[in-house]
Amino acid sequence: NWSMENFIEMQSEKIRQQVGDRNVLCALSGGVDSSVVAALIHQAIGDQLTCVFVDHGLLRKHEADTVMDTFRDQFHMNVIKIDAKDRFLQKLAGVSDPEKKRKIIGNEFIYVFDEEASKLEHMDFLAQGTLYTDIIESGTETAQTIKSHHNVGGLPEHMKFDLIEPLNTLFKDEVRELGLQLGLPEDIVWRQPFPGPGLAIRVLGEVTEEKLAIVRESDAILRDEIAKAGLEKEIWQYFTVLPNIKSVGVMGDSRTYDHTIAIRAVTSVDGMTSDWARVPLEVLEKISNRMVNEVNQINRVVYDVTSKPPSTIEWE
Ligand code: XMP
Repeated sequence: NWSMENFIEMQSEKIRQQVGDRNVLCALSGGVDSSVVAALIHQAIGDQLTCVFVDHGLLRKHEADTVMDTFRDQFHMNVIKIDAKDRFLQKLAGVSDPEKKRKIIGNEFIYVFDEEASKLEHMDFLAQGTLYTDIIESGTETAQTIKSHHNVGGLPEHMKFDLIEPLNTLFKDEVRELGLQLGLPEDIVWRQPFPGPGLAIRVLGEVTEEKLAIVRESDAILRDEIAKAGLEKEIWQYFTVLPNIKSVGVMGDSRTYDHTIAIRAVTSVDGMTSDWARVPLEVLEKISNRMVNEVNQINRVVYDVTSKPPSTIEWE
């Protein structure tokens, strides 16, 4: 007699038993899994939960505000937001190798989180949004990883927590259902996969604030138009990439020499393989016009028509 209500009730009881009068810390990213974990644990133990949200400055437009609006203002959770944008940008300055960028971001994330956690007293438990599939996958990990996907590469020795992983028997679709039951908004529950290193791997090569702005603004237009066309749930991921090439264009009577932006939109079941999404040409036309008109420094828009394999979903 398995139902979502039963699941919530049983898990809440289990969490209360395990935690007693102690406290739980949770790294909130705004992604589906950490959001659902936070909401579930909050339902069980209320203020004994503290969430830390690290804004690394590599998020999409309005994303940090949505997280704070939802969890702090609507759910009334203890959420500590850390504005670490400058730290991350400084560490990334001059670095253009994709794997180095990933490592720097993963490490910096741990430093920032650790720094904050050590200021909080009596945090005994760490909540994690591990899913059933994460457990299976790590058991069958191939020897050669194509990209290092694991954002948090394990916590330092001195951070001793007992783990709480209440989602580790669930699949993604069940986690979404649970999220809806717990009252999370649709845009969090149906959020498309977003990589831990965020927009840093969508600016090819060196990351600068200026380049991030081009990706962030063009991405916002893309998301807006995909939503208006009602295509959000059909497309697995859709985003823009700054390939870091400039080309010649013409605006009014004058020559321009500006950036090209690439649109990546793919259909997929699990991200392991993918096909490029057949977004209607009228929709692409509108997106292209808006990007060129509304985003500074873009004078050309291209659409990526490769599947995975041979390419990957992200460009880095
Ligand atoms: P690729 O680009 O390898 O991506 O086809 C497959 C899926 O993984 C996501 N991705 C990442 N997720 N950290 C993450 O958390 C990463 O470094 C990372 N790189 C890629 C990608 O968005 C897609 O969903």
